[in-house]
Amino acid sequence: MTMTCYWFSGTGNSLHAARRLAEAFPGMRLVAITDRLAANPPELSGEVVGFVFPVYAYGPPPIIQRFVKAARVGEIGYAFAALTHGGGPANATVVTDRLFRSRGLDVAAFFPIRMPSNYVVGSNPVEGEKAAAIFELGDSELAAAREILAARGRCPATSGGVGARFKSGLVFPLFQKGAKTYDRSFFATDACNGCGICVDVCPAANIALGDDGRPNWRGHCEACLGCINLCPKQAVQTGALTKGRRRYRHRDVSVKDLMNRE
Ligand SMILES: Cc1cc2nc3c(=O)[nH]c(=O)nc-3n(C[C@H](O)[C@H](O)[C@H](O)COP(=O)(O)O)c2cc1C
Repeated sequence: MTMTCYWFSGTGNSLHAARRLAEAFPGMRLVAITDRLAANPPELSGEVVGFVFPVYAYGPPPIIQRFVKAARVGEIGYAFAALTHGGGPANATVVTDRLFRSRGLDVAAFFPIRMPSNYVVGSNPVEGEKAAAIFELGDSELAAAREILAARGRCPATSGGVGARFKSGLVFPLFQKGAKTYDRSFFATDACNGCGICVDVCPAANIALGDDGRPNWRGHCEACLGCINLCPKQAVQTGALTKGRRRYRHRDVSVKDLMNRE
């Protein structure tokens, strides 16, 4: 019987989490969720099936929804989901549980995992001691989750209060509507040297270099912010929001790990 962990990650937090959680299941395969896989997913089946991905606007990313909705669900012995977040997941696990249940998938354990936020559009990514403290917290949550997974335990999705319900019930659907055109305001500055890393890290195959050697975004963005955060020249910006801000990548995940996922 197979053990598979499906992961989606813009800047490495969720890939790091997937790697750590897979240690609970020796031999578990890690499979990247890309736009192509979401359009043509494998049957979800096997002894253990895991899903690891970030929280976007208090819910699961659109690509996760397409993947789960399009997949056939077969015999599954045990399923779990880990949602990495930057400190405010609201009711993302509950929304995700609903998504899985709509496909007849009983996910036994949900783990919100704290990580530094990669949402450079909203604020400057943390660094130094602040970042180190968050990594430590996330790693202790991953260690606790691994113990539950090793015992194939249950850990249900839990709902927060009114604020969490508002965020996941109202803000999340609004975000989803605009997600595809998220890249409208993305551009590369003169610092771009045409290296093409943005093309290679994009999980949606949404970026191509133009004749001028600069990236063009093609309007089917997954909003992962990989192109902005992983550009070695910090040349990719969105409007004026990201100008002068630091960039973020998980410290144990390389740009190479996030390239050419297929
Ligand atoms: C478009 C977008 C929306 C986000 N929304 C939330 C959010 O609602 N709550 C939160 O805690 N973090 C939010 N974040 C931060 C990420 O969930 C967090 O940094 C995550 O660990 C990134 O994972 P990755 O490195 O695997 O892409 C958001 C990030 C992005 C790019």
